[in-house]
Amino acid sequence: MTTNLSSLNSSQIQECIENKSLKIAVVGIGRIGLPTALCFANSGFETIGIDINEKLVNMVNSGDYPLKDEPEFDKVFENVLEKKKFSAETDIKKVIPNSDIILLSLPTPMNNQNIPDYTALLTVGKSLNGLLSNGQIVIVESTVEPGFIENELLESIEGTEKNLKPGIDFHLAVCPETANPGEIMHDFKKLPRLVGSIDKKIVPIVSALYTNVFGVELIPMPNCKTANAVKLTTNVFREINIGFINELSLLFEKLGIDTYTVIEAAKSKYNFQPHYPGPGVGGPCLPVNAYQYLNSSKKIDPNFLKIVQDARKINEHMPQHVIELLEDAFSESNNSLENSTIAILGISYKPNVHDVQIAPSETIIRLLKEKNVNLKIFDPYFISETIFGYKIENSISEAISNSDAVLMVTGHNEFNDFNFELLSSSKNKPILVDCTGKINPQNVKSKGIIFRGIGRGGL
Ligand SMILES: NC(=O)c1ccc[n+]([C@@H]2O[C@H](COP(=O)([O-])OP(=O)(O)OC[C@H]3O[C@@H](n4cnc5c(N)ncnc54)[C@H](O)[C@@H]3O)[C@@H](O)[C@H]2O)c1
Repeated sequence: MTTNLSSLNSSQIQECIENKSLKIAVVGIGRIGLPTALCFANSGFETIGIDINEKLVNMVNSGDYPLKDEPEFDKVFENVLEKKKFSAETDIKKVIPNSDIILLSLPTPMNNQNIPDYTALLTVGKSLNGLLSNGQIVIVESTVEPGFIENELLESIEGTEKNLKPGIDFHLAVCPETANPGEIMHDFKKLPRLVGSIDKKIVPIVSALYTNVFGVELIPMPNCKTANAVKLTTNVFREINIGFINELSLLFEKLGIDTYTVIEAAKSKYNFQPHYPGPGVGGPCLPVNAYQYLNSSKKIDPNFLKIVQDARKINEHMPQHVIELLEDAFSESNNSLENSTIAILGISYKPNVHDVQIAPSETIIRLLKEKNVNLKIFDPYFISETIFGYKIENSISEAISNSDAVLMVTGHNEFNDFNFELLSSSKNKPILVDCTGKINPQNVKSKGIIFRGIGRGGL
């Protein structure tokens, strides 16, 4: 029998939390769900992760930690398995009837028309309909557009016959996850969390639970849609600012101004927040979040959020600009980009993570393939894997040897202090194109390298 927390008074609720008598289910144990489940288990709650990926479930249950680029969790993982506080399961029906709290950390991607795809949440919502009964609390951590929870998701859990009553048979709340891949442990311990709920009495319960597990500030929100709007706003704020700096970079290249010099000096103004240019904005969050806002706003007026539409357009144009920089560099060396061999350094959508979701590198690679360019790719996070149809090289030097140009796409730490000597193994006059800002143009100039960099005007 599960505990109906909403029927208890606040000291009874606190007691359930402190004596760890609640059972937790986390549906979706990927990048965010697994670390979350591990934190609940590590703080003493019996936690079961549910995932349709059987391979992942078997891997986790056999003690093999899957998130190698979230290193701080490996010890936690070992600890909770040893204490039998955490296990994984594929069958949602076995777990939910015995769970007091159900966290949903399911993917919310978009389809190839950039329309948000909430299938995973709606499918799980529908299956919860037959499994909830005693006022269990469902907490959505996934990122969704404002209104999705109180409309589509609520309907899917209530069922078409409305056989489940929200606020009685189950409770629905949100606690959007804001952690950054590669820094999840740090963010879990530091970032305040937002809590919104369909019925307000659930907010303090969720807050007390999360405070107990994460020890961070919990910010109560008036409802679910406001909490989801806050989450989208923080990410889309970055998207717009990166779009702005990317467009400025295009201008500054023409005006002969170095974007990084501008940003560095602009930082001296107390209310300037630096954002940096790059080959585009990727990953599972920012581009999707922009389209989630656009999906929401276009239902009211397609002209709403023009600024978001424009930022997306500029950021989506950046891979094409990278090709233009390469073409420009090749024309300076009196060679052609067509049929050349290029070494790409870094394919992750951002530095220091093993993740190529919506990565600008994918578009760059497609555009280069259309020009019959031969590619040799090195990324320290993907050694020996096959990504976008290419076997990743074992070392930087293997990728660079006999290539006509080097294109640094992702600024992994491994590319700090880039060894320019490596370029001497290039076939022709060395070409280096930098999308990361890691290469100091002054260092390159003196070495006889043909250099281009995003936003690097005035070289
Ligand atoms: N990755 C991030 O940086 C990040 C940060 C903050 C918030 N978020 C949000 O968190 C949510 C989860 O993202 P993620 O990066 O962890 O995704 P992910 O793809 O890494 O993990 C999702 C997991 O859900 C599983 N899954 C899919 N459908 C399922 C179903 N019907 N039943 C059970 N399991 C199912 C998948 O197999 C996968 O293991 C998304 O809404 C995302 O936007 C992600």
